[in-house]
Amino acid sequence: MVISRASSESDASIHSTFASRYVRTSLPRFKMPESSIPKEAAFQIINDELMLDGNPRLNLASFVTTWMEPECDKLIMASINKNYVDMDEYPVTTELQNRCVNMIAHLFNAPLGDSEVAVGVGTVGSSEAIMLAGLAFKRKWQNKMKAQGKPYDKPNIVTGANVQVCWEKFARYFEVELKEVKLREGYYVMDPVKAVEMVDENTICVAAILGSTLNGEFEDVKLLNDLLTAKNKETGWDTPIHVDAASGGFIAPFLYPELEWDFRLPLVKSINVSGHKYGLVYAGIGWVIWRSKEDLPEELIFHINYLGSDQPTFTLNFSKGSSQVIAQYYQLIRLGYEGYRNVMENCRENAMVLKEGLEKSGRFNIISKDNGVPLVAFSFKDNSRHDEFEVSDMLRRFGWIVPAYTMPPDAQHVTVLRVVIREDFSRTLAERLVIDILKVLSELDMIPGKIPAAKVEEKEKAAKNGKKSELELEREITTVWRKFVLDRKKTNGVC
Ligand SMILES: Cc1ncc(COP(=O)(O)O)c(C=O)c1O
Repeated sequence: MVISRASSESDASIHSTFASRYVRTSLPRFKMPESSIPKEAAFQIINDELMLDGNPRLNLASFVTTWMEPECDKLIMASINKNYVDMDEYPVTTELQNRCVNMIAHLFNAPLGDSEVAVGVGTVGSSEAIMLAGLAFKRKWQNKMKAQGKPYDKPNIVTGANVQVCWEKFARYFEVELKEVKLREGYYVMDPVKAVEMVDENTICVAAILGSTLNGEFEDVKLLNDLLTAKNKETGWDTPIHVDAASGGFIAPFLYPELEWDFRLPLVKSINVSGHKYGLVYAGIGWVIWRSKEDLPEELIFHINYLGSDQPTFTLNFSKGSSQVIAQYYQLIRLGYEGYRNVMENCRENAMVLKEGLEKSGRFNIISKDNGVPLVAFSFKDNSRHDEFEVSDMLRRFGWIVPAYTMPPDAQHVTVLRVVIREDFSRTLAERLVIDILKVLSELDMIPGKIPAAKVEEKEKAAKNGKKSELELEREITTVWRKFVLDRKKTNGVC
């Protein structure tokens, strides 16, 4: 949500051209109009205004699904008027969510007996899933500390500085200290050794990411599990692991089935995944799965009975749509293991096409890894004249939305561009994007650098004399300033 700001006088009304045959006066922008307008006019006004939004298919900033099959679109529209929370009234929808939870739990190797059902819930996305998982860890830890007669008012969570902003939200909203392992140039994920060093008796869990938002890299959950097991043994603590598999949860089981990152590792107690990322459903669905019912404290579950029978719920909100749950079930049965593997393999191959095209230009360092989320994160080898933000801006002219951002501390001096490869990003588009990036590079080469050549020369001269140039001093000040700002407020709004 964006907090809305007050209007300026010039923004007070909306004018429409096409709707003018129905509407003679302009509409107030921030006040509800006094009178009604015809439905055709309302449609036309809104439709026209929305034309100015970017094209979702060319939005390479987002992991979130932008294309589904028309058959699924039909199912979505058919269930658009069902409130998911009315479980007694829509028992089949509830049953479909339970099937999804169980399928995903099996995919993550939850240790379930033949007749045992999985413990998990559908959410609005990974952010809600993470809040729920975090609350379960916090409550379990508090219960344990209370039972031992120890203070339980200073919980902390250990993560890498590369965590998505939702972890910071969890920490702030639910009063848990976030202890972040800093990154360094060339190493952009949480170092398990440092993470385990930071664990203390108040650590409610260590959160590992399967598929860092910033460069798609998988963190080494196996090593983390081994190191933490040793620390737990030595200290007598039982610090658990949560895996934020927002993107990787629907990639690793298909592309890297041998990789141990999930419930095969004993300390992994819960996992979240975004159904709307590589689960291949439109925005609005995520999942959290617990290893067993012992890992979800009973007192967090609410029982409501006024909709019919007893309904246990563990969510942050009450009402929500049913369509996304149904769409997730559609994808799981429509594609099956084979279909998901094909989609993920195609994405990986298209990522390689893009990566190779960029490498051939000789101008970029690739920051992403081949084995991870199919995305390409890259930065200029030499950004002394032009930077990645300029490339991002210029690509907009071709319709492409490619974000540029700085890495978190202590790698904040590194800027990257990131292209997320989704199912609907074809090889032709990958090739087209390479061509457009090359065009942007040649245009940039012809225009004066943001940083004047004189300053670059001065830097070279100063380096020869062993002194700091004006440019270097400027950069140092900028870096310190950025670090100051980033330390106060995480700015990685990339999703
Ligand atoms: C690693 C990670 N965790 C959590 C999230 C938040 O996910 P959602 O948008 O499903 O709430 C993201 C989003 O990109 C992510 O990359």
